[in-house]
Amino acid sequence: MPTFKIIFALGFSLVARVKGSDQSILENTFIVKLSQHSELSHLDDRSPDHHELFHKRATDASLNYTIRHTYDAPGTYVGLSIQVYSGHSQDSIQAQLSTISGVEDVTPVFRITLPDPTLANSTIMADPSLVFNDATDIHAAPVPKADANLGSALQMGGVDKLHALGIKGKGIKVGIIDTGVDYRHPALGAGFGPGHKIAGGYSFLGDDGTHANSSDPLVTCLSAGHGTHVAGIIGMDPLGETQGYNVTGVAPEAELYMYRVFDCSQSGGSDDILAAMLRAEADGVDVVSMSLGIGQELPSGNDPLTEVTAKLHEAGIAVIVAAGNSATWSKFATQMYSEGMPSELPGAIAVGAIANKNFPLVWTVVDSKGSVIPYASLWPIEYPEGADLYMIDDGCNREQWDNAVAMLTDEGKLNSTVIGFRVTDLCRPADARSCCTITAPVYMMGMYSETSVPYYVDYDVPSSGYFGTAHFAAVSANDSLILLAGYEAAGGYGSYKLFFNDSSYSSPPQFVGGQMDWYSSFGPVWLNYTMKPQLSAPGGHTLSTWPLGPLGGYTILSGTSMATPYVSGSYALVKSQFPDLSVDDILALLQTNSKPVKWVWDESMLSATVQQGAGLVNPYDAIMSKTRVSPGQLLVTDNTHDTYGEETFVIENKANSPKTYSLSHEAAPFMFYQPAFREPNQLPKYGSVLFETSSVQVAAGASVHVTFTIVPPDDVDASRNPVFGGYIKVKSDDEILSVPYAGAAYSVFNTDYIHYDRNSPLPRVSYTLPNGETTIDTNILVVNSSMAYKSSISRDQYTRSYRVDVLPADTAIKPNKYGFDKTVQHDYVISKTGPKSSIFGFPSYGTIANATGLIQPGTTIWPSGTGVTATAPDGTVYSPGVGDYRWFVSVLRWGGDENVLEDHDTWLGPIVRLVDGAV
Ligand SMILES: *[C@@H]1O[C@H](CO)[C@@H](O)[C@H](O)[C@H]1NC(C)=O
Ligand SMILES: *[C@@H]1O[C@H](CO)[C@@H](O)[C@H](O)[C@H]1NC(C)=O
Ligand SMILES: *[C@@H]1O[C@H](CO)[C@@H](O)[C@H](O)[C@H]1NC(C)=O
Ligand SMILES: *[C@@H]1O[C@H](CO)[C@@H](O)[C@H](O)[C@H]1NC(C)=O
Ligand SMILES: *[C@@H]1O[C@H](CO)[C@@H](O)[C@H](O)[C@H]1NC(C)=O
Ligand SMILES: *[C@@H]1O[C@H](CO)[C@@H](O)[C@H](O)[C@H]1NC(C)=O
Ligand SMILES: *[C@@H]1O[C@H](CO)[C@@H](O)[C@H](O)[C@H]1NC(C)=O
Repeated sequence: MPTFKIIFALGFSLVARVKGSDQSILENTFIVKLSQHSELSHLDDRSPDHHELFHKRATDASLNYTIRHTYDAPGTYVGLSIQVYSGHSQDSIQAQLSTISGVEDVTPVFRITLPDPTLANSTIMADPSLVFNDATDIHAAPVPKADANLGSALQMGGVDKLHALGIKGKGIKVGIIDTGVDYRHPALGAGFGPGHKIAGGYSFLGDDGTHANSSDPLVTCLSAGHGTHVAGIIGMDPLGETQGYNVTGVAPEAELYMYRVFDCSQSGGSDDILAAMLRAEADGVDVVSMSLGIGQELPSGNDPLTEVTAKLHEAGIAVIVAAGNSATWSKFATQMYSEGMPSELPGAIAVGAIANKNFPLVWTVVDSKGSVIPYASLWPIEYPEGADLYMIDDGCNREQWDNAVAMLTDEGKLNSTVIGFRVTDLCRPADARSCCTITAPVYMMGMYSETSVPYYVDYDVPSSGYFGTAHFAAVSANDSLILLAGYEAAGGYGSYKLFFNDSSYSSPPQFVGGQMDWYSSFGPVWLNYTMKPQLSAPGGHTLSTWPLGPLGGYTILSGTSMATPYVSGSYALVKSQFPDLSVDDILALLQTNSKPVKWVWDESMLSATVQQGAGLVNPYDAIMSKTRVSPGQLLVTDNTHDTYGEETFVIENKANSPKTYSLSHEAAPFMFYQPAFREPNQLPKYGSVLFETSSVQVAAGASVHVTFTIVPPDDVDASRNPVFGGYIKVKSDDEILSVPYAGAAYSVFNTDYIHYDRNSPLPRVSYTLPNGETTIDTNILVVNSSMAYKSSISRDQYTRSYRVDVLPADTAIKPNKYGFDKTVQHDYVISKTGPKSSIFGFPSYGTIANATGLIQPGTTIWPSGTGVTATAPDGTVYSPGVGDYRWFVSVLRWGGDENVLEDHDTWLGPIVRLVDGAV
């Protein structure tokens, strides 16, 4: 069954995410978990080799397979991943493997992706497998103008202040599971192994995707750009004033361990991630940083990644994962539940992305008219003698590109002309790249033209290599007007020149700087409204290291992929100061000291907690804070079947004098799913908080429990699965901490599960009359055994089971909802057949529908049949004969007991009177 969650796939086409679909799994490839228990009953101190036993048994069962990974981490995970060669289906191979003795679990291997909007395979670069074997020098350092600021991202989190104090992550080991790295880069230590910045690592894949083991994570194809960029965000060193850019990572003294799980075409599997996580644990890392995702729903059963993430968390290793880039810039798209796996896992810390305060690199060009026009670009264009400009009318028209390139080549002017195109909503640089083979131009310029969306106001540049070796420059919408007016007035191509002789950069503030970036995926966890992402960090327009070679060794990228290493670095900074704190303690410190940010579309509001989590991370405040509040986030939900929103946290005063804390509430927007009309996706509809006391005194070194109740906003429509959120502020004279909360804006236990619509009416029982018309429930439906029934039930909430039973019409069962008028009296025709079953102790003829498992909201058409039939407990379908019946629907409430009537939402239908002969 297709799931109801959708993601924006690479390249931003809308696709349904289908569990087990061909795109999301690697065919006939499985992770096999083996039992860790000894199979020997006699005393024998030789522990059995579980792997050997498996291979023997699999061979005996005539299975033909190759081994991808062997997992041998007793206490964490023992098993292997294999690719099976067989003509049988995926499911039957999985079933066969499951029957092998000693096998505990078999799961398919999922494809993994790099969740970066500008970096996705088909849009990242002309050729991700482009190899740069020569470690050429990196680009000479351009000169900063007075307002240049390559440190804005670090300043946003107070990281620059920690560096000034000498706090740089010394002694902490960070494992990065990614594409590998170009560690020849001088900013990354120009070397590998103990004593180097890149102190360790492993490569689980060769360039071509074969599972070739290597302890060397060096990757020289352009695909390594992602891992090289991520590594730089944590660990790069400034190179001073002669080469490259003088930028610094968040924790430049941390030791990095790089694990390669992508090949040069950026393919990899979830079994590679598992291998890397186990290897990282064995290497003794403190943090595992994962800027990746897999195309899979949160599994409801056993899952190796869930299990190993939990094990690492227990072992004191933080697993920090990108939330994903599945959101859109739209103010109207629902967005909720777009967070990906594995960031959704309970043991993982999910990270959202915030736009950089400043765009790092903007230069100027002077046109024939003398106008000075700024443009964004990684490196300056150097062409002081003046380049021509040739504007293409439609940048997404292949013929126009081909004609322009052919003409300029003929004229011998390809290398002295900037080819320009208008960037519109329908023709972004990614569209231009995918429509047309744009590798020939030397200089390209994107003229931005729209400002309808706040995010369009800022500069954007694709990664280095995106257009091959062509040099791309972006001109803002306002500046494009000036430039294009000059071009038109001068008479267009041939009579208008651009003089590039500015090699110093500025870093202008971004319009959306400091706010959630457009792609950053929204939570919450779809089953229980747990807040994800848990916090956010600068990830938009981040300047960091890039493989060496002609592209210059640096690039600007955006994504939750870039925010994740920022949080991993921040974690390392805190851990370096408080080595004894647990993962949850450090997470709480980071969360409660994060700064909630405003909503891009309306700055009178915060952005929803399911978008930003705790807000912008601030490791400086986390380290300096004299107060600890834990837990770091609250889930607002039913506490019991009749209490809701009761919360508690602990305030600990670490200062050496008493402190008085005042408690207050700052609300964040309300969001809902399943909209039927165009409405902003974040609304100023707020809950409230009832504090028992508005201020607490805490003695030096002491801690106090604080309890309070969070009340959701009034008048919510639970059928739209609404969420609300906000922050509980804990203020003292010198500090403000805040604890984010998120939850269902209604009691999930007590709400309606059966979608009940008085106008429709729903649920309904309908029969087709002999004349072809459909009759639906009134007080009594007279039917015969040749009339077909068809019925539907809509459910608004997740459930773990529902049933539809056929009951005698005079049943004494008391439902919550009636499909008929209770006040009308009837003389019942009693069936001569005895009920064969029961429900909640009331006699039942059996079921019409019976579903269990994790069942999503939606409409189900009951199986159709004729007359009145039921399935007896022994599985036989029969008709109980002439008589009066009612259909009874019961849907289990979340957290309810399936044997208790009151733990279900129930509906009893009208009389269905089965008669002999015509009706
Ligand atoms: C890789 O090494 C591991 C042990 O480190 C081994 O179990 C596995 O079979 C090796 N895989 C390949 C493809 O060589
Ligand atoms: C196993 O499968 C591979 C790939 O299909 C094939 O080349 C090989 O001959 C098979 N081996 C056996 C023993 O069937
Ligand atoms: C480079 O960055 C470092 C660290 O931020 C700073 O101390 C140094 O002054 C910078 N050097 C130059 C030349 O800007
Ligand atoms: C990347 O793109 C290439 C070319 O379009 C395609 O063959 C390959 O399968 C893609 N890889 C992934 C991981 O999507
Ligand atoms: C144009 O530039 C390309 C790449 O920069 C270079 O290989 C080529 O020789 C140049 N052609 C001319 C005519 O200058
Ligand atoms: C929320 O659901 C996830 C997935 O089922 C589960 O692991 C987690 O423990 C739940 N959290 C709470 C607070 O119930
Ligand atoms: C409903 O289905 C579940 C499992 O699918 C089964 O255990 C249960 O006995 C069924 N109930 C009835 C009344 O058929």
